[in-house]
Amino acid sequence: PNQSEANLRSPICCIMGHVDTGKTKLLDCIRGTNVQEGEAGGITQQIGATYFPAENIRERTKELKADAKLKVPGLLVIDTPGHESFTNLRSRGSGLCDIAILVVDIMHGLKPQTIESLNLLKMRNTKFIVALNKVDRLYGWKACRNAPIVKTMKQQSKDVQHEFNRRLTDIITQFKEQGLNTELYYKNKEMGETFSIVPTSAISGEGIPDLLLLLVQWTQKTMVDKLMYRNEVQGTYLHHKEIKAAQGIKITAQGLEHAIAGTSLYVVGSHDDLEDIKESAMED
Ligand code: GTP
Ligand code: MG
Ligand code: NA
Repeated sequence: PNQSEANLRSPICCIMGHVDTGKTKLLDCIRGTNVQEGEAGGITQQIGATYFPAENIRERTKELKADAKLKVPGLLVIDTPGHESFTNLRSRGSGLCDIAILVVDIMHGLKPQTIESLNLLKMRNTKFIVALNKVDRLYGWKACRNAPIVKTMKQQSKDVQHEFNRRLTDIITQFKEQGLNTELYYKNKEMGETFSIVPTSAISGEGIPDLLLLLVQWTQKTMVDKLMYRNEVQGTYLHHKEIKAAQGIKITAQGLEHAIAGTSLYVVGSHDDLEDIKESAMED
């Protein structure tokens, strides 16, 4: 593929946060699926990847009238577990991504695995967007299914707006205590230094258009170099003449059950030493 701004690969986004903040449910909401209820105890125990093609994102964000701005072919989102015993999987997930969504439950604020996730992202200098989830749990919330957040907020009573602002302010303070500036995304004038917060509900879909659009715009704006294709990995695939980077593909191989999710894929060329590559793979 040619290397140009007109031919960007899909950004890889990892979704992280404390247990039960609604990471899987948010992805279910975007996909229109119900994976979360099928999980044992409702707990995610593995890394999963979902590809959202640009057409889907365009459809979900059309109310925000930002249509023409989509330059990437889609978005690959990686779900990670929030349970404390899966630090290794969170670390793998955060290592794979261009950008992350950090999910915080508006009723609970920052929790131990929120802070752990934050530190993983800081360590790798990965930018992220905060999804302030479960806004529908605010007492008296009026659902506006799948609506952009500003429109939704206008429909809420003064009491709900007040309660929302009170919780938001507390959570901004908690981020400050972790050394991070955060602000509601539509008030954030200095994206980059200040991280954006998008209020969402995975149940009624408010704020989902905002979240998707912000992810795509932010990656397109700041990561053009990273998103241009490189020709490093080449291979022959049975069912596809060509695959583009950052698409989910199914790999069939012997002993695959021993492979660890999130490790790099190495391609052995005719001039490569197999033992050297084996060694790098084991170190990964
Ligand atoms: P782990 O992967 O186990 O860390 O959890 P998770 O962050 O993926 O959360 P999950 O999607 O499993 O949701 C946890 C619980 O919160 C489920 O009962 C969801 O139905 C509920 N939930 C998630 N998002 C929302 C939301 O926006 N509003 C409400 N009311 N409930 C939600
Ligand atoms: Mg989950
Ligand atoms: Na869960």
